[in-house]
Amino acid sequence: MDDGTWVEVGPLEELPLDTGVCVEGVAVFRVGDGVVARRDACPHRGGSLAAGRVVDGVVTCPLHWWRFDLVDGRRLGAPDVVLPERRVEVLDGVVRVLVPPPPPRRSMREVLLEAAHDEG
Ligand code: FES
Repeated sequence: MDDGTWVEVGPLEELPLDTGVCVEGVAVFRVGDGVVARRDACPHRGGSLAAGRVVDGVVTCPLHWWRFDLVDGRRLGAPDVVLPERRVEVLDGVVRVLVPPPPPRRSMREVLLEAAHDEG
């Protein structure tokens, strides 16, 4: 099974405290003394959470202001909505994330059927 590819982000001490960093579709955040990684696509309309503002471990989506707790990934006020977690680690002060493999390619027919199903 292909778990993905480990990609280096950079030194932990250089990660910003008030926003995230996007690495190949993974949003990486410095939270306290540690680091958290989540899918960089808001479950609402796909906004980049890495571009959101972080205050006290909560990121605000820059598109429509949904807010997520970075530690458990849950949306504030709607805890059933969760940002998927990504594996992240710090080795010798350097952060790296596991970037999942790209999804399988789909035909136009499959894309259109899914869109019709979502609207129905
Ligand atoms: S895309 Fe994030 S709140 Fe709408």
